[in-house]
Amino acid sequence: MSLRKMTIKKLMEKKKLKEKIVALTAYDYSMAKLVDECGIDFILVGDSLSMVMLGNENTLAVTVDEMIHHTKAVSRGVSNALIVGDMPFLSYKVDMKDAIYNAGRFIQEGGAEAVKVEGGSEVCPLIKKLIRADIQVMGHVGLTPQAIYEFGGFMVQGKTINAAKQIITDVLNLQKAGVFSIVLESIPWQLARIITDLLDIPTIGIGAGPYCDGQILVLHDMLGIFTEFKPKFLKYFGNIGAAIKEAINGYKQEVKGEKYPTQEYSYDIQEDEFKKIQEWVDSADLEKEADQAMKEL
Ligand code: KIV
Repeated sequence: MSLRKMTIKKLMEKKKLKEKIVALTAYDYSMAKLVDECGIDFILVGDSLSMVMLGNENTLAVTVDEMIHHTKAVSRGVSNALIVGDMPFLSYKVDMKDAIYNAGRFIQEGGAEAVKVEGGSEVCPLIKKLIRADIQVMGHVGLTPQAIYEFGGFMVQGKTINAAKQIITDVLNLQKAGVFSIVLESIPWQLARIITDLLDIPTIGIGAGPYCDGQILVLHDMLGIFTEFKPKFLKYFGNIGAAIKEAINGYKQEVKGEKYPTQEYSYDIQEDEFKKIQEWVDSADLEKEADQAMKEL
């Protein structure tokens, strides 16, 4: 294992050292490789892939098989970042045995080193069982997108005393159950700050303000590739969607205008060999030669 390899232990130490944790999602080999080469601490193969990769309206539609497929691709591209696989809707809240098996697939087949589950105190019995099965777990509270129908949409959570109390008791129970870190999604920064101070494990914010121990964003959001929905917390760190369109339009125009490919982008053949080919094309019965080739198969 390289010295640069991120581990759960190192990630947890970062909180004590007050070093910010930087995380991103990724869903395929090439992007994961780029993210990893930038020294990002951990990569979440998020169920957000349901929306940004598969075009579904929300995260509920993605299956365990689809998640594993993408996790495999990511792990082929990553050398140093810690890889966390996101347990999708219906994969862990229905049946305990199935949940452990599904989580194990992320590790065994996908190459992930941990899994993430959404939810509060109600998922603690499962988390304990996963840890007993040697599967490390990240928590996720606040706006948990698998519960959007309960919330009535992608709404900020924890804005009232009762809602904040619920989130605080949930994170304390998650920590006790053994999660190594917790994602805080779309909650007021003041609440995220209280939680970050209360916990010994790192908090990872997305729409939870500046005082979390780390931050995560959806890669396709922050690159400006997926622009259908822009929550307040999202900052575009690039306009890659526009850059991709510009490149595609350039290609289209050059092909139509016969500017691409020039000889510079073409393979060449020796003159005498080419002459032989041309003579054969000019003299042979090409249809007959093709029929003969089929018969010989
Ligand atoms: O699925 C995902 O990308 C996530 C992040 C938003 C934390 O859960």
